[in-house]
Amino acid sequence: MQTFPKKLTRRNFLTFSALGGLSYMRFWEPHWLHVRRQEIVTGKAGSNAPLRLLQLSDLHASDVVSLAYIESAIALGLAEKPDLICLTGDFITSVYDQFDGYSGILAKLARHAPTYATLGNHDGGLWAGRTYGYPDSQSVRGMLATAGIDLLHNTYRDVVIGGRKLRVVGLGDKWSAELFPLLAFPADSPVADDVFTIALSHNPDTKDDLAGFPWDLMLSGHTHGGQLLVPLVGAPFAPVRDRRFIEGLHRWNDRWLHISKGVGNLHGMRFNCRPEVNLITLA
Ligand SMILES: [Fe+2]
Repeated sequence: MQTFPKKLTRRNFLTFSALGGLSYMRFWEPHWLHVRRQEIVTGKAGSNAPLRLLQLSDLHASDVVSLAYIESAIALGLAEKPDLICLTGDFITSVYDQFDGYSGILAKLARHAPTYATLGNHDGGLWAGRTYGYPDSQSVRGMLATAGIDLLHNTYRDVVIGGRKLRVVGLGDKWSAELFPLLAFPADSPVADDVFTIALSHNPDTKDDLAGFPWDLMLSGHTHGGQLLVPLVGAPFAPVRDRRFIEGLHRWNDRWLHISKGVGNLHGMRFNCRPEVNLITLA
């Protein structure tokens, strides 16, 4: 018969606390999704109606991030009735075997509103090929095409949504050595003054690479907000050079940067850093 200690010793207390903390980090917080809403006053002429932009980032479909969970994040985002949807990379972690089911879920986004995507370092390429992933992005590209999502890989689209003129520019991933801004912002296609330009670039450190190009708002992910935020320490695991920009909406050199904490995660854990879907209203 198993016996339990009659007295709560310091050692038992610490053991129970550690197990409780690990269970929270593994089984609760990684799925504790919420909608984070922010507003940007663009200062551009256009429609009087605000435009609702949904950003989803770092879905990271994998053994620790299920399609059912990703589907719930998409439902949460679509409930906000977005006019435009932007996906900022890391659709998978390393390799994946459920692309058909995944494209069916992502297609819900494209059926609702114009949906544009860019790739992250985990989606295949130089970096992924060296770290147990795909050496190229053909699998993820195929999935996005099947889902009806427009992948912008160092290219752009000019669109008018609700009377508002937008240019959506997608950049290749920096760590994958596929960041080619000269292709994405061609000199022979300048941006008119009344056009608001949104750059989709997975890694927020790319703001410096893109500083000489015309954009108003850059949407990034990559950091997962740090994923594990340590009290009094911060985000020791955030994979960025510029530690000022790990999550959230920031003003930078008269432009806007938005870094999503992301939907999924790596290794199945989050602490003090809930997953999010992002609704940005352009006023
Ligand atoms: Fe990521």
